[in-house]
Amino acid sequence: MEAGLQPFGQTGFSLPQIDSGHTDLGESQLMRPLSQPLHELPPVDLKLQSHAPILGSRTLQWAREADCSAFAQSLATLPALREAHIELQGPLGAGKTTFVRHLLRALGVQGRIKSPTYTVMEPYEADGLVISHFDFYRFADPREWADAGLRDVFAAPGLKLSEWPDKAAGFLPTPDLRLSIEPVEPAEARLVTLNAFSPRGVQLLAAPLPA
Ligand SMILES: Nc1ncnc2c1ncn2[C@@H]1O[C@H](COP(=O)(O)OP(=O)(O)OP(=O)(O)O)[C@@H](O)[C@H]1O
Ligand SMILES: [Mg+2]
Repeated sequence: MEAGLQPFGQTGFSLPQIDSGHTDLGESQLMRPLSQPLHELPPVDLKLQSHAPILGSRTLQWAREADCSAFAQSLATLPALREAHIELQGPLGAGKTTFVRHLLRALGVQGRIKSPTYTVMEPYEADGLVISHFDFYRFADPREWADAGLRDVFAAPGLKLSEWPDKAAGFLPTPDLRLSIEPVEPAEARLVTLNAFSPRGVQLLAAPLPA
């Protein structure tokens, strides 16, 4: 399931130099171990890339939805998650909402967990933790983010999970962690790239996986 873990400063990997003056280059490619063949790299959509420096990255391979669930359960055990902002990228049907459902269940959310595609935001609370799940897919213009009063929601404490963050580009704060889910063959398989943009995000990269 594991394809690579590489927070900066970790020994044992041969990392390419990151030039922060060229952060609009394909970040995933910059962060790969040099040993990984180029043909294994997922496609990088430069339009979606944040210009914030990447502090660490990790790649995972999910063979089936159970692997998505296992990673969500592991992430849910980390204290750093409680104040995190996580962006979820990937095409329609990649598994963004599915990952959020597994994460919210692991955090103790009960009852129906709806996709926020039409409501933009669905709020939850579990064990004193406030959780906001966003889906900006239907935004015709990123300025709708400010009009909807979401600035205040993002300023408040709690866990924030954003699907289709590029639709609110320029307004959303830089995430702690970006999780990019790419469907690959066979049907349930996913190639998942995690990029951390803050020390909190780097802590989340360390979520342990079952052996
Ligand atoms: N490995 C996997 N990880 C996550 N979901 C999977 C996996 N394999 C199959 N699935 C299925 O893929 C579908 C993903 O749908 P989901 O609504 O989560 O996608 P999405 O990325 O949120 O799409 P949208 O952009 O429309 O919001 C679900 O039916 C889920 O059961
Ligand atoms: Mg969704």
